[in-house]
Amino acid sequence: MEHPAPAVTGEPQVVVVDDAAAAGRIVAATISDTVRRAPTCRLGLATGSTPLPAYRLLVAELRGTGAFARVQAFLLDEYVGLAATDPASYRATIRRELTDELGVPPASVHAPDPGSGRHADLDAACADYERLLGDGVDLQLLGIGRNGHLGFNEPGTPFDTTTHVVTLSDTTRADNARFFPTPEAVPTHAVTQGLGTIRRARHLLLAATGAAKADAVAAALEGPLDVSCPASALRLHPRVTVVLDRAAAGALS
Ligand code: PGA
Repeated sequence: MEHPAPAVTGEPQVVVVDDAAAAGRIVAATISDTVRRAPTCRLGLATGSTPLPAYRLLVAELRGTGAFARVQAFLLDEYVGLAATDPASYRATIRRELTDELGVPPASVHAPDPGSGRHADLDAACADYERLLGDGVDLQLLGIGRNGHLGFNEPGTPFDTTTHVVTLSDTTRADNARFFPTPEAVPTHAVTQGLGTIRRARHLLLAATGAAKADAVAAALEGPLDVSCPASALRLHPRVTVVLDRAAAGALS
């Protein structure tokens, strides 16, 4: 891709670009670079709005090339109570937005599977996903919530948590209502990789765009290293890239 992936320094590397489209180019380049170097890599994917420009670029540039055919993809989280075929489930969403388009076989797209079959026992769903993630993915793409959440790890989540069930906060349900027919249809619970799980990834790539994320980004990068901002846990990781547009970087000192 025309935009090279940023070099890795060992400190959280913060890249600020003009707008969401430019952030998408860097995220797409980092993902495609990882896959080019290791075509059988384990890729941690995020859903939500922030990754969409990057996903669209990857699809536009790499569809039909087979570049992603041997990738294993892992989602950060999934709602409790939605079938994998429900269009609002994260499994359906990532297939529609990225992995089907890039030719990743459905069997290579992994996610927590809470609520069905053996996984009617949610603890079993969590334990199985944690086991599947093993020693972690090669690259984990992350968004950040307005309250500093990573995945569905809301404020107060200990930094060493493994995959677990969460009760979604009112803010998070309201933020996600746009993907559902009615606000009441947003599930009340989800299963998420824990902050300890996320930190096992070899490389963390956080993307944030828009002024609504500015305070959360500042708290994550410059506030106390504290569970009140789950994303501050990023600073415990040796290899983190943070890609921001100017608006999301607006509260950094
Ligand atoms: P967004 O979600 O990309 O849709 O803003 C990010 C998040 O809440 O983690």
